[in-house]
Amino acid sequence: MQSPAAARNREPILAVLRDVLPAHGDVLEVASGSGEHVVHFAAALPHLRFVPSDADPDARHSIAAWVEYFGLDNVVAPLALDVLSSTWPLARADAIFCANMIHIAPWEATLGLLAGAGRTLSCGGVLVLYGPYRVGGRHTAVSNERFDASLRARDPRWGVRDLEAVIEVATTHGLAHETTFPMPANNLTLVFRRTALPGEAAMPSAGR
Ligand SMILES: C[S@@+](CC[C@H](N)C(=O)[O-])C[C@H]1O[C@@H](n2cnc3c(N)ncnc32)[C@H](O)[C@@H]1O
Repeated sequence: MQSPAAARNREPILAVLRDVLPAHGDVLEVASGSGEHVVHFAAALPHLRFVPSDADPDARHSIAAWVEYFGLDNVVAPLALDVLSSTWPLARADAIFCANMIHIAPWEATLGLLAGAGRTLSCGGVLVLYGPYRVGGRHTAVSNERFDASLRARDPRWGVRDLEAVIEVATTHGLAHETTFPMPANNLTLVFRRTALPGEAAMPSAGR
């Protein structure tokens, strides 16, 4: 599988990841799709171990093929991870990255992603989300409004989400919104940090 969009946006996303990812540890990618993002990031950030995943078996085949082609030793085999599942196949991660799933899936997928990130991230770990969002109840560009309409025509459960709604749900899972980076083509990168919820014991790091 090849994604022209992933080829275009991987460099701007990598620039943000260089800033926000930890110095070492495990980075889980949720909804890796073709796998072109993870191989690009893993090659550029050899001090981190990347764990790609997707719910779709075809995507997992594509990810494995890209990883083999690049011969990277800091990317593990793709996990079968459906964000809707209450049990994820990885107990702990130091960072989680997810691009372009939130708007191309039902809202329940966003709820599952944020709940799972809250369960899986070690305390102080980061969740990084990339994609288009409405801000203050409005689209940030006419092109995003058209894209939203096309998504909803394909599946009424899909659509560009409200930034504030995502931040509100994230907060309930101990994910504090830290930064919003404006990105090319009217996309945003959101960074959340896993903080302890009231009464919650400190969570260990994923370790190596
Ligand atoms: C538009 S693609 C994005 C792929 C890649 N992250 C990128 O930005 O190029 C959306 C991906 O979300 C995955 N996906 C959809 N629903 C999912 C779910 N419930 N759990 C995990 N992945 C899901 C799809 O299989 C697909 O690979």
